[in-house]
Amino acid sequence: MKTSEIRSRFIDFFAKHDHVDVPSASLLYNDPTLLFVNAGMVPFKPYFLGDEPAPYARAVSAQKCVRTLDIDEVGKTTRHGTFFQMLGNFSFGDYFKEGAIRFAWDLVTGKEQDGGLGFDPEKVWVTALYGDQETIDLWLKVGIPRERIQERGLKDNYWHMGVPGPGGPCSEIYIDRGPEFGADGGPEADEDRFLEIWNLVFQQEELSAVRAKDDFDVLRPLPHKNIDTGAGLERIALLKQGVANMYEIDEVYPVIAKAAELSGRRYGDDPTDDVRFRVVADHVRSSLMLMTDGVTPGNEARGYVLRRLLRRVIRAMRLLGVNDPVLLELLPVSRDLMRVSYPDIDANWPRVAEAAEAEEKSFRRTLQSGTVMFDTAVDAAKGEHATTLSGDKAFQLHDTYGFPIDLTMEMAAEQGLTVDRAQFDALMKEQKERARADAKAKKGGAASLEAYRELREAGEVPFLGYTDLDVNTTVRGIVADGAAVDRALDGTTVEIVLRETPFYAESGGQDADRGVIVGDGFNLNVIDVQRPVPGLVVHRVEVLGELPLGATVDARVDAAARHGASQAHTATHIVHAALRELVGPTATQAGSYNKPGYMRFDFSATHGLSEALKAEIEGRSNEAIAANYAVSAQEMPLEEAKALGAMAMFGEKYPPLVRMVELAGPWSRELCGGTHVGTTAEIGMLNLLSESSIGSGVRRVEALVAGDAFSKFAAERALVTALTDTLRVQPDQVVGRVERLIGQLKDAEKQIAKLNAEKLLAGSAQLVQQAVDVNGVRYLGVATPGVGGGELRTLAMDLRDRLGSEPAVVALVGGADKPAALVATNAAARDLGLKAGQLISLASAALGGKGGGKDDLAQGGGTDASAAPQAIAAVRSALETRG
Ligand code: ALA
Repeated sequence: MKTSEIRSRFIDFFAKHDHVDVPSASLLYNDPTLLFVNAGMVPFKPYFLGDEPAPYARAVSAQKCVRTLDIDEVGKTTRHGTFFQMLGNFSFGDYFKEGAIRFAWDLVTGKEQDGGLGFDPEKVWVTALYGDQETIDLWLKVGIPRERIQERGLKDNYWHMGVPGPGGPCSEIYIDRGPEFGADGGPEADEDRFLEIWNLVFQQEELSAVRAKDDFDVLRPLPHKNIDTGAGLERIALLKQGVANMYEIDEVYPVIAKAAELSGRRYGDDPTDDVRFRVVADHVRSSLMLMTDGVTPGNEARGYVLRRLLRRVIRAMRLLGVNDPVLLELLPVSRDLMRVSYPDIDANWPRVAEAAEAEEKSFRRTLQSGTVMFDTAVDAAKGEHATTLSGDKAFQLHDTYGFPIDLTMEMAAEQGLTVDRAQFDALMKEQKERARADAKAKKGGAASLEAYRELREAGEVPFLGYTDLDVNTTVRGIVADGAAVDRALDGTTVEIVLRETPFYAESGGQDADRGVIVGDGFNLNVIDVQRPVPGLVVHRVEVLGELPLGATVDARVDAAARHGASQAHTATHIVHAALRELVGPTATQAGSYNKPGYMRFDFSATHGLSEALKAEIEGRSNEAIAANYAVSAQEMPLEEAKALGAMAMFGEKYPPLVRMVELAGPWSRELCGGTHVGTTAEIGMLNLLSESSIGSGVRRVEALVAGDAFSKFAAERALVTALTDTLRVQPDQVVGRVERLIGQLKDAEKQIAKLNAEKLLAGSAQLVQQAVDVNGVRYLGVATPGVGGGELRTLAMDLRDRLGSEPAVVALVGGADKPAALVATNAAARDLGLKAGQLISLASAALGGKGGGKDDLAQGGGTDASAAPQAIAAVRSALETRG
């Protein structure tokens, strides 16, 4: 049975039983506690918690998931995949344990010809939480004998997200694969032989703290009893297809086959290679799915996970003996397998391929430059007769060059060295803790969350600010230091909730409104506005006077600042539309931010924009401003907006009713809750400041708008005036004049270098006196700053000749614009095996570069001119140790 067929059988079965078929959410689904969606229930979390009413009572989904916690297990076991698909049925306060158990049993053991999965009922085992007699009785009722029902502890039979959120006892379904796979005795005895295929979770509690699988605090019972189940599609597939592990199923195996073809090695021949093949197959698919959903390789969070996956593929392929680029060979195989179930893979493929290629190139460079640092560290360690490479060096390699520790360890082992793993781990831990502390500081206390939730329960806060900037209302809640209070004192900063508000809370990239809230005996300065839980607007205010709960207030948005924010937000839509028009649809939005006078827009692209294209985008944007397009906002069903081609953000979840902002008809349609100007001419003008990379695959354009745009143009004009005054030319002659001046400067520098060289040549008889005896060789190493190119060569040959016919080596380190080095050997030195080509590479490495050439004369260079003494010393030590 094909994987795709198992998927559709599952969906069809539950759809037949009144479940709404909900498409998989993006892997980047917006949940602040998660990097990626890691379970089928993630998009439904607010329905379980009661934060939002469930739009349906029953749902079924096949959800894309990524879990990278067990990345080191991949390929070694049968069942660890970093990407997998979770089939699930969900009930939001509808059926509970009995329904869930009955459905699962019918589907698992139902005959294939009746749409079931056709597992032998005799092979099915189940588990329940210790003492959950109700669940045990329900399993007995469907017909499983008591001896195939096992009770287990919280660790195995209580499910939560690993972070605060919903949770509950669970019951798992296992299939006995037979005695050849391990010991008898049910899942309690052997989880390889008894393979878990489905977990039924009885979601009934909210957890406030999670320390471990079996160590957590329960905050409250959930408003309803819910069902959340997760069946591993790949696991069912491996059983139905009779293959050994999840990497050999129809949706994955062809990647292994391709890797085998590329490497010329056979899968199944060697256990170590087999693990590598499986790592490749798993990671290639995960990377493809992540990139399709909009992740680009980077050094932070999601981007880093992807980078790690891609690099592990490249590394595994190298260990399989393939040194050529591999990603564009392997990814298409996975693409062709997965496109059936995920048609958006094709639409995104050009962008994915480009990003993958760029990443592979950069990692190959990394490997190259990291290897220089690694070699230096190894030489240093060996020089000190050490047998260990310090953890510090390994950490540096990891941090600067992205060298995975296993790579460093393997390369060290090849050199007969071990790595101080303990020190490395300690440094990594320190770094992680720093990152965690940062993340915590950003998120705000969990204590306030409880207070917010209570305030939200009293009702949603309507936002009136699309039309009204001044509203009379009352103070409905005050939160100080995470707790609800009934009074705020003079001089404090607190958070307040109003019955309704004209203040725009930061969202959709638009900065929060500023303004004041005034009332009898107090004056509140609004410094931030956020929406910590859906539907609740919280104003952070500085209190002047004393504010009692329930006070009547006049809430006034700073109208000028709001107008500025609206100008910037509409400008963001304009730049987005101009980019798509001129760059193409691959320039998908990756983020944005706007505030009065300023906007930035991040988008996916692997190359920078050319100056000409930047100018075009700026021009097109200003045309759109001058055209004075009307900006309209309309509420409509999500489907309708999508049909109109409205652009939505990756990973955002939208309600069934959305707001679409449109300018110039189809030219710009975006789902957006922000505030905008009435017509585009209100923006005045736009000045594109810069375009830059903010991580591999993501580019950022920044622009000033309105008065700030004008000020910038004016400042640039003043600069041109200053230049024309200084250079005494017309504006259009500035560039020509500066170019000429640079040319003259270069000529002068050349002249100086030549004079220097002549001086040195004239003094070469003296220079020769500096030659020293090193291990039977006359060695003359001289720093000749300012002397480069042909002069350096002439000087080296002259000095070599002067050193006579005994073995002699000359090393010169000079260079005009950048460091250059030259090594010359005479015939007698070459007879001793001393080759200029080899010696120059040592000297160049010290300068941070490369070199090469013939045995008698070779040249090189680098980037670090201050390392000339080291370069000279490097050649000398090679002579010392010549053997
Ligand atoms: N949420 C449950 C899981 O992920 C079904 O295993």
